[in-house]
Amino acid sequence: MDVKIAIIGGTGIYEGLGLENVKEIDVDTPFGKPSDSIFVGELEGVKVAFLPRHGRGHVYSPTNVPYRANIYALKKLGVERIISVCAVGSLKEEIKPLDIVIPDQLYDKTKFRPNTFFEEVVVHVGFAEPFCPELRKVAIEVLKDLGYSFHENGTYVCIEGPQFSTKAESAVHRALGFDIIGMTALPEAKLAREAEICYLTVATVTDYDVWKEEEVDVAMVLENMAKSEERVRNLLKKLIPKIPVERKCPCKDALKFAITTHKDYITP
Ligand code: ADE
Repeated sequence: MDVKIAIIGGTGIYEGLGLENVKEIDVDTPFGKPSDSIFVGELEGVKVAFLPRHGRGHVYSPTNVPYRANIYALKKLGVERIISVCAVGSLKEEIKPLDIVIPDQLYDKTKFRPNTFFEEVVVHVGFAEPFCPELRKVAIEVLKDLGYSFHENGTYVCIEGPQFSTKAESAVHRALGFDIIGMTALPEAKLAREAEICYLTVATVTDYDVWKEEEVDVAMVLENMAKSEERVRNLLKKLIPKIPVERKCPCKDALKFAITTHKDYITP
């Protein structure tokens, strides 16, 4: 299956995207089954895979999403680039609900998620720049053309959840200079890097987190997610055909100097 670009996101994005000639593919991996079947179809003439991160019916919490199976399954299909769509809270006044953020940095506060494929060999991939520079560049150009309110940088702090933050935590995240907060970009981005897959996050802002809101609740998040869906779909439709076929970014060579276990120690 020769599909090079995948979208990971909510079913709300999928419905209305208008993928053509869709095939639903079930993939198995050494890490179990992915969150759902993978839908492969054509978007603006480009072959694209779509994987609902939380599964149909939103059954996997951010902690329980089978991140390793998801990335492994996409790699198995030949995917080289992942566009991850997610909802986030804002930690800055100027990043407003309904804005789009293309983060350039990540801060990992997750606690209970397996975050590597490599358990029998020691592998240290570089992760200083967690997002693909090529994909970020194209996304920023397209967002400028579309004229949407967006931010071309930002540090995304990924918390374990599933609870939203306390006011004390929100104040600390702000004091540390983080821009947006969410629960799903990690370990997805780390696993994509280990799989040498380019990774881009398109974050839609649903709330001001509890430094400004009295309380964040699911109704508020869902309502604003729904309001952003059409803009995200337009972005995907314009962005995907503009992605260069050949990769010139460092993501594709992430494992080149990363494996430290001597080959003789790998059990046959
Ligand atoms: N996702 C959307 N809003 C969020 C918030 N305030 N905190 C964590 N994850 C979120």
